[in-house]
Amino acid sequence: MTDEFQAARRPRPKSALAIVAVVLIAFVLLIAYMLVENSSGASSGSLSEDSYAAEVAAALEGADADTGAGLINEYECYTCHVLGDGSQSPLFDGIGKYAAERRPPLSAAQYLYEATIFPGAFIVEGYSDSMPNNYDERLSEQEVGHIIAYLLTLTEEPPTY
Ligand code: HEC
Repeated sequence: MTDEFQAARRPRPKSALAIVAVVLIAFVLLIAYMLVENSSGASSGSLSEDSYAAEVAAALEGADADTGAGLINEYECYTCHVLGDGSQSPLFDGIGKYAAERRPPLSAAQYLYEATIFPGAFIVEGYSDSMPNNYDERLSEQEVGHIIAYLLTLTEEPPTY
């Protein structure tokens, strides 16, 4: 009698296991979906105060504005951003001031980081997507930091080089 009773009961734990398995699979799929959503969301422009935060903090460690000024020359950013009349490329004058307002919630440093190595992510109004987009390969993290440090100093005075 007891054996029969247990035999009749046996399938139950199995179906319970199956339900747990289905729920687990659904959960894993949900997590995978959320991860994919998140990464595509970042590239399609959903920003937060944390965007690039870790990268910028690492780049700015030991960053030096004078070295940054030299890099602006070395990488010829100045040909577009300093020598021009501002019609083809935005001039750097005052960029340290308005960088914080360009793309909220990005801070000035976060915006300058993005604008330098991912220029296609945001196009300044009135300009075309014509900035070279290979500085992420050409500049080291440290060099990006020096450049950001320099651009942040351009709050009012025209560039000095
Ligand atoms: C061939 C011309 C050209 C060169 C060279 C160039 N840029 Fe740009 N840059 C542009 C143009 C055009 C824009 C505006 C379009 C956009 O937002 O991408 C721009 C936008 C920017 C902005 C945003 C400016 C703003 O007012 O918000 C930053 C910062 C910037 N560039 C940094 C750099 C740095 C740093 C370098 C060198 C490592 C560089 N650029 C080299 C053409 C250039």
